[in-house]
Amino acid sequence: MFLNPSLPQCLSTIDADLIRELETLEPTFNKHVPLRKALSDFPAPAVKLIEHMMQWVEGKHKKVLVDLKVADLKAEDYTCIPGWHIDTVTDPRHDSLPENHLIYTNVFPTEFVRDPVEFSEDKYHFVDVTDDIPKDNYISAKPNSIHKYGRFHLHRGAQVTSDCRRVLVRITETDVIHK
Ligand SMILES: [Fe+2]
Repeated sequence: MFLNPSLPQCLSTIDADLIRELETLEPTFNKHVPLRKALSDFPAPAVKLIEHMMQWVEGKHKKVLVDLKVADLKAEDYTCIPGWHIDTVTDPRHDSLPENHLIYTNVFPTEFVRDPVEFSEDKYHFVDVTDDIPKDNYISAKPNSIHKYGRFHLHRGAQVTSDCRRVLVRITETDVIHK
């Protein structure tokens, strides 16, 4: 099988008014909040964005979970733990319906491996291939946009190059995480 068989799909660019509203959110970190709870508890700008993103929720999985991460970052900080990874499982052949992820970031968006990476039968963990990925073999998602990716997309958080308030909203449809 191949990881990164395709590029992540850019679904939508968010309008400037909502971007500005999102950037007024205070730093916070909410991980894997059930969609219904996110819609009732999250601040209004995040709810507005989630409602927009819901048109791409497929509804095939047991869980729909939302992350809201707002952080004041300094130049050279990483937006998450550095390094290529896939979310949710370590073995891309895990016996479950692969995830659907929808992600928004205002600045320093996620970086995705660009070219397909062979994941041969003798491999069981994504780290078995990440050391061999050439340094420049990636693309960045677009800022202020919604992207769709899945279990087979190796990706990583970017290193920021200037101080910023970074806003991330991610919807994950999965059968693996139980909340
Ligand atoms: Fe990730």
